[in-house]
Amino acid sequence: MCERLLAKILAFAIFLGTCGSLVFGQSANNSAATTYKTNCVSCHGQDGRGSAVGKSLHAADFHSAQVQQQSDAQLADVVAQGRGNMPAFATRLSKDQIDALVKYIRTVAKAK
Ligand code: HEC
Repeated sequence: MCERLLAKILAFAIFLGTCGSLVFGQSANNSAATTYKTNCVSCHGQDGRGSAVGKSLHAADFHSAQVQQQSDAQLADVVAQGRGNMPAFATRLSKDQIDALVKYIRTVAKAK
């Protein structure tokens, strides 16, 4: 009797765990896109080429070799510490969020 209940609880826990990792795995992807939209699009534009505001501030095009030649660590550093007109995000975003954004910038740059 009791064993059956335990087995049910266990099965349910495994089920929840699977659902959780599916949902969170996806939201990690979506959240980089969302973080980008809320914090970066105003200057860098949805396609990473730079909005009118961004261009006037001399924001680099993410498609350019100048940006893509830099390592993930270098790009993450600019996002965290800021540079020139680029604001620092270290106080607003976690390191994980910034790393996810760098990956996101790479995918944005690959899109034509
Ligand atoms: C207020 C406008 C503005 C916002 C908002 C902004 N940026 Fe920038 N960003 C800039 C400018 C301007 C530069 C160029 C800095 C320089 O080198 O003088 C830049 C540079 C960068 C670079 C380095 C590119 C290079 O030339 O090496 C990266 C990476 C970057 N931004 C990512 C981001 C991310 C990710 C966000 C959102 C979290 C963001 N930026 C938000 C204006 C902005």
